[in-house]
Amino acid sequence: MYSNKVLDHGTPASSSAQQVSVQIDGTPVTVPAGTSVMRAAIDAGVKIPKLCATDSLDAFGSCRLCVVEVEGRKGYPASCTTPCENGMKVKTQTPKVAALRKNVMELYISDHPLDCLTCPANGNCELQDMAGVVGLREVRYGYDGENHLQATKDTSNPYFTFDPSKCIVCSRCVRACEDIQGTFALTVQGRGFQSKIASGPTDFLHSECVSCGACVQACPTATLMEKSVYEQGQPDHAVVTTCAYCGVGCAFRAEMKGSEVVRMVPHKDGKANHGHSCVKGRFAWGYATHPDRIKKPMIRAKITDPWREVSWNEAIAHAASEVKRIQAKYGRTSVGGITSSRCTNEETFLVQKLVRAGFGNNNVDTCARVCHSPTGYGLKQTLGESAGTQDFDSVEHTDCMIVIGANPTDGHPVFASRMKQRLREGASLIVIDPRAIDLVRTPHVEAAFHLQLKPGTNVAVLNALAHVVVTEGLAKESYIAERCEPEAYAKWKAFVSLPKNSPEALAAETGVPAAAIRGAARLYAGARNGAIYYGLGVTEHSQGSTTVMAIANLAMVTGNIGRPGVGVNPLRGQNNVQGSCDMGSFPHELPGYRHVSDDATRALFESVWQRPLDHEPGLRIPNMFDAAIDGSFKALYVQGEDIAQSDPDTQHVQKALESLECLIVQDIFLNETAKYAHVFFPGSSFLEKDGTFTNAERRISPVRKVMPPLAGMADWEVTVAFAQALGYAMHYAHPREIMAEIAKLTPTFTGVSYEKLERLGSIQWPCNDEAPTGTPYMHTQQFVRGKGRFFLTEYVATPERTTRKFPLILTTGRILSQYNVGAQTRRTANTVWHDADVLEIHPHDAEQRGIKDGELVSLQSRKGETALRAVVTERMQPGVVYTTFHHPESGVNVVTTENSDWATNCPEYKVTAVQVVAHARQSDWQHRYEQFSDAQEHMVPKTAVRGEGR
Ligand code: SF4
Ligand code: SF4
Ligand code: SF4
Ligand code: FES
Repeated sequence: MYSNKVLDHGTPASSSAQQVSVQIDGTPVTVPAGTSVMRAAIDAGVKIPKLCATDSLDAFGSCRLCVVEVEGRKGYPASCTTPCENGMKVKTQTPKVAALRKNVMELYISDHPLDCLTCPANGNCELQDMAGVVGLREVRYGYDGENHLQATKDTSNPYFTFDPSKCIVCSRCVRACEDIQGTFALTVQGRGFQSKIASGPTDFLHSECVSCGACVQACPTATLMEKSVYEQGQPDHAVVTTCAYCGVGCAFRAEMKGSEVVRMVPHKDGKANHGHSCVKGRFAWGYATHPDRIKKPMIRAKITDPWREVSWNEAIAHAASEVKRIQAKYGRTSVGGITSSRCTNEETFLVQKLVRAGFGNNNVDTCARVCHSPTGYGLKQTLGESAGTQDFDSVEHTDCMIVIGANPTDGHPVFASRMKQRLREGASLIVIDPRAIDLVRTPHVEAAFHLQLKPGTNVAVLNALAHVVVTEGLAKESYIAERCEPEAYAKWKAFVSLPKNSPEALAAETGVPAAAIRGAARLYAGARNGAIYYGLGVTEHSQGSTTVMAIANLAMVTGNIGRPGVGVNPLRGQNNVQGSCDMGSFPHELPGYRHVSDDATRALFESVWQRPLDHEPGLRIPNMFDAAIDGSFKALYVQGEDIAQSDPDTQHVQKALESLECLIVQDIFLNETAKYAHVFFPGSSFLEKDGTFTNAERRISPVRKVMPPLAGMADWEVTVAFAQALGYAMHYAHPREIMAEIAKLTPTFTGVSYEKLERLGSIQWPCNDEAPTGTPYMHTQQFVRGKGRFFLTEYVATPERTTRKFPLILTTGRILSQYNVGAQTRRTANTVWHDADVLEIHPHDAEQRGIKDGELVSLQSRKGETALRAVVTERMQPGVVYTTFHHPESGVNVVTTENSDWATNCPEYKVTAVQVVAHARQSDWQHRYEQFSDAQEHMVPKTAVRGEGR
């Protein structure tokens, strides 16, 4: 039988540099000081029986199954809690310890149901294993005494069950929830025989539990068990792959039965997640085989026509002939493409190659336009590289972290758990956010400062922080003198020192008390290692790029770049948004962030691609929309993006899409954009193809095919066939060959190959001759651009002002259980936590408007109107309301505006002047949407969904 057990060393590894030597059953071993006897025994080839110990948790020493004898010591110490000492001689198998262990097992088994044969954990249960290991054959205490065998099962969580009748109260779940996840949802209630595990006063679903699965993973019995294992039985093989949700990039073992996923188990060797997960990657993978998947290509002449299911050949030939027809009629630049930050690097690379070499223009863009394009621009300008500076492990060395415009517990949950671990160890925290995000106060973690600024004033707050650093003599002058451009620094220093940039002068504008800014600046500048983590609350503003540069300035002036524990760390939204940028998805840059106007770079690509390349940058997404409405842009190929839902000013986007003569959408579902399409290529999920994703720490991780593509072709194969039909041949037999081409053409990838990924597990770029195994943190000796460059960051208030008509500011974000436009998570049981977007509003604003909690309210801006339910909460500051954009029918982007970042056009999602009105009904837009959407769904032939057609 396949075993899904990964070698468990019993206790965590020690990081001590000092070594100690011991003998285990006569075998000498040398281990780092602090290593437990249990762990050292594994090195000596001896597995000591255990139940309460596991190597993801500190030893607890409660079960006493791991007792050993130590020469010269009295008693029988637990090997999991006994550290090795030089010269120690340990015996793990003596008649006495064998008897003690048997006795322990007898006690456990006498209070355990003997239903092994029908238990879902049968064959993969540590209790069952240990009974065998200690040689238990009979239970002298019988099964008639007082026991817990009738305890009620809790099945409230949609993904796992809690069956207390099987619980041995080893507390591994409680410790996992506390130490790994940092949620503290579980407790051991009562003492002795009465002790039991509880999810607080309520069931799992209604408790503090965030369904990360750490307790399920830690449980040695079937007490906490995935429902999928109950339903499908134990898996028969496993494949290591990478989560397709957020930019943390967790590695998972897809545990399979044939070609069906039974469960996704976080991979212990995953360097981004070290065996941890969140609810999305761990449990919300069922969308991949959801009945809504479209499995057949479809075409139609007009969007009012029903779809016609066709063969792949016909769909691809039709799409190619449409692109050719449109280019012949309207010109070479009348067509373009959008790459996907959900697809693999290899697929993204091919789409931009198709546009540049096949379409013959640079009209290619990606969804990073609407999230982290300012990061690319701002960091390139200041530091010389368009990516975060650190690996996630770096946080272990951080003494003070600034979290600005990010909500890691919801957006990047696995990394948030690492942050919380470090904060519990004593690091300090400064949160800069209009909302009281969860990190401001969670169990055992409290921010030293929460700078609750008004939306749109990030630059002012960062300038004020820099003002304090500079004027109070906290700048690291020697670091700056060595590492940064002196003239730019002198100018910047004079600028931030101006009285107008003082916390006192800016307090009214930012809404943040000057004393709090001063305190936060001193804390960050005075820390041994200070790190800044930021998200879309930084970038999605009219001054997004300025804010990124202000963050880089602040890190440089305090000497906080170039070593572990520091840095500028963008928390990337989608799984491969870093990769889609790296792969040349922007209209002005070829892969590796090299400008299309650079002759030498173009010549290199032309020699490999065998096509002349345009030296003019192409259209950005918003320009494509404008050009479509103007009539000069006529065809668009969109791979794996839902621009109709995710981009701002929905009605403008809809008009643009309606204006196209040919919209080709490649997706796994009939998403909102596909409802405006003329050609539909069914996409493949991450489970159906090989490739790589690159996470927020520049880590390239393998994505491995665990099942065949449901529609018969992986996305990269479709792009290859599309190019071929356009008359531009691409020759790849496997994504590894695409990566070989990427490596050949991209200086930061020259050392990357599938063989190396296989060997190392994952690689952080740059990976080349200078860094053959990759680069965990950047700018160590000098900045990539040579000297770091300070930029003047003049604060300019957003043009989006509140008025009497629109007196509130709307800001947007995500929540834990849903993901982005929700196309995946809405098709999973995650909807139990969030089945609709809601509007968070402060009690004062609600009262003024007569709004009650739970009531349907109208949200209005100068762009449009929608209606959603209000949640009255003090998380919000007065004057600011908040919502998410996971559900298309709530249509929050109907109200967001065309304002965008001055440098990159990243939309200003985070600031929209709105009014909220009580007693609402669905808006006109929502009515129209509902009718249009229903009609479109009915136009899809049933056979295309079932995959039964031609
Ligand atoms: S639920 Fe599992 S991990 Fe938790 S105490 Fe019981 S047996 Fe141990
Ligand atoms: S699933 Fe995660 S949050 Fe919930 S109880 Fe288990 S460890 Fe805690
Ligand atoms: S943290 Fe992100 S990458 Fe990790 S499991 Fe959750 S969604 Fe997936
Ligand atoms: S495994 Fe050591 S006491 Fe439980």
